[in-house]
Amino acid sequence: MKTIFLYSLYILLMALMSCAGKNSDNTASPIENRVDEILSQMTLREKIGQMNQLNSPGSVTGDMVSLISTGQLGSVLNEANPEIINEMQRIALEESPHGIPLLFARDVIHGFKTIFPIPLGLASSFNTGLVKTCSEIAASEAWSAGINWTFAPMIDIVRDPRWGRVAESFGEDPYLVSELGVAVIKGFQGDDLSAENTLIACAKHFAGYGASEGGRDYNSTLIPPRELHDIYLPPFRAAVDAGVRTFMPGFNDLDGVPATGNAYLLREVLRDQWKFDGFVVSDWESTYELIDHGFAADEKAAAYRAVKAGVNMEMAAGTYSDNIADLVEQGLLDEPLIDRAVREILRVKMELGLFDNPYIPAGKQNNFGGPFNMEIARKAAGQSMVLLKNEKNILPLQEGTKIALIGPMANEMYEQLGTWNFDGDSSLTVTPLEALRERAGDDRVLFTKGLRNSRDKNRDGFREAYSMASASDIIVFCAGEEAIITGEAHSRAFLDLPGAQDELIKELHKTGKPVVLVILAGRPLTIGEVSEYADAVIYAWHPGTMGGAALADILYGDINPSGKLPVTFPKTEGQIPLYYNHKNTGRPVMPDEWVHIDDIPEKAFQTSLGNTSHYIDAGYEPLYPFGYGLSYTTFEYSDLKADRPALDPGDTLTIDFLMTNTGERSGEETAQLYIRDPVGNVTRPVRELKGFKRVHLEAGESKRVTFMLPARSLAFHDVNMKYIVEPGEFHVWVGGDSNAALKTKFTIKNKK
Ligand code: GLC
Repeated sequence: MKTIFLYSLYILLMALMSCAGKNSDNTASPIENRVDEILSQMTLREKIGQMNQLNSPGSVTGDMVSLISTGQLGSVLNEANPEIINEMQRIALEESPHGIPLLFARDVIHGFKTIFPIPLGLASSFNTGLVKTCSEIAASEAWSAGINWTFAPMIDIVRDPRWGRVAESFGEDPYLVSELGVAVIKGFQGDDLSAENTLIACAKHFAGYGASEGGRDYNSTLIPPRELHDIYLPPFRAAVDAGVRTFMPGFNDLDGVPATGNAYLLREVLRDQWKFDGFVVSDWESTYELIDHGFAADEKAAAYRAVKAGVNMEMAAGTYSDNIADLVEQGLLDEPLIDRAVREILRVKMELGLFDNPYIPAGKQNNFGGPFNMEIARKAAGQSMVLLKNEKNILPLQEGTKIALIGPMANEMYEQLGTWNFDGDSSLTVTPLEALRERAGDDRVLFTKGLRNSRDKNRDGFREAYSMASASDIIVFCAGEEAIITGEAHSRAFLDLPGAQDELIKELHKTGKPVVLVILAGRPLTIGEVSEYADAVIYAWHPGTMGGAALADILYGDINPSGKLPVTFPKTEGQIPLYYNHKNTGRPVMPDEWVHIDDIPEKAFQTSLGNTSHYIDAGYEPLYPFGYGLSYTTFEYSDLKADRPALDPGDTLTIDFLMTNTGERSGEETAQLYIRDPVGNVTRPVRELKGFKRVHLEAGESKRVTFMLPARSLAFHDVNMKYIVEPGEFHVWVGGDSNAALKTKFTIKNKK
């Protein structure tokens, strides 16, 4: 009796699910028909094979051949040799039971052979079009190597620079991260995923991984529901709306429930609410790690929890292939659930056109580099660099200046490519040394590293550096972090320049020569004190293949720096977490309302210092705020207007203002639009970015700039967790960073 019931339930479920792919006239789409047809012919073992992704052994070995030819593999990870890929694919097409092609996946986070700035650097450009182009180039290079799926964009919100993976994020702001994540997805997937030079994109790490407690990677994340939905989830929702076809959960446990086993995230939010119909791949062995989390007793339980939660494909761990058949045979997992998981995988494989064009054509293999790719890499690096200080307009350099180029990051072809560089060709790298000698002439550039690497504490090289600096007109010091001390699993508790870099800079300052400090790093560093010894500071991040050329362009003023910070820079680690869209608290501090610890009178009375929210030894302000970045010219914002004083919840407000280049040379400035909801039924951030636009202005030029602000963009989860646009007054600012001062107001009316 029970069998008949289960079977009829299965038929009903299959019928319902096949509706998922119905066209508006209720006819199943060709893809859904093909999926139905293949699925109906597959054994349980073959279905489980599609849910299995393994790391490539780097050759077509016996084990791999038998796994593929018996249909026990759905995807191969980390193979980037087109011949090997084509051979594995041939076995899948010609020898496996149903000829289902394999997906070949690889992390192409900020470039394949041509490496662009790390994502945190790309974010500093605030240039979605440029970021999209970088992703298009990365897709074309990776596709030509046989890769058809990548694990990017990483759209975790990050408010803690101790976390090494801040390097691969787009920073702390939900709006900026959303816009850039969409740009990457569109760059990778193109308008037609079945076309050549496209990759399946993957929104990761869903969700909240960037909030790893203490900035320590893989640590727990404790995020209240409202913060989760209003800060951490918006970029992932934007990714679904942009058509991303895969998701990856994070390693983190979210308030006790690991993301890899989190049905709330993977089923209720992602599929039921957002209607995502692609598939979810676990992170590396994160299914198995449910045991370490204490969320599963053994591999079988881990597989069960992950499948139930909604993880379609398992990366590298093997618990699926070892346990799902037993779980189904024991009635612990229903085969319809497996069918749904496999259906979503097959759907994406078909959307990719893999069944029709499974091979990389011989003539199109390994198409790397090239002038256009390098030109874009140079442009991206140039727009990612942020000018933080430029006293006495020491920059741009005068032609003929004799430069002492010093520092452990001045000529490192590999290090400047940054973290998550799996396939970058470092022989293509243009370093600051190479570029400056090219630009200024060999005889104009003296060079010594001064330190063996960024962590070196040995002062033996100081003397040579000092004498070289003394014999020059200006010191350009390239400081920073080697790639390996940034990125995954590389959190830092101290955020100063590592090694003896600070000491060397202070030593060189004694020569009396001007110092230009260039920092090539993967995170905000606490550079406040060392910056006192520099006349100019440029934050170059890890700028990628053409970083040196872009730096020379900026140092000589061939391009005007335009980068803006996508993350807040703390003065000290003790201030972290520190971000611009913070709450006001009940005791906000005003600029002159606090006393520094060194200035507190002896025996001061308990309440004499003012009871407000700050540190008595660091105040409350960051070193540099979100959105900050200087130019070689100056910009003025004026005449801010809203097109009406009040609008209905369904309306869009037009905000416009005048921007003027008040300096001596042309430049591009990212104008930023911030709002504040001063009173809500829950407390609201003191500022929220709701628009940004790069504006080019010639010296002396003015132009009116317009932002459209839909009222729905002001929505938030209220005291009852309802997503609402709340009536009331709103404040608006426009300016060049999150401390923008030019302000106006408007009101959202009550619903009629
Ligand atoms: C890593 C990362 C993930 C990456 C995956 C495959 O551990 O967490 O972002 O895509 O494994 O390399």
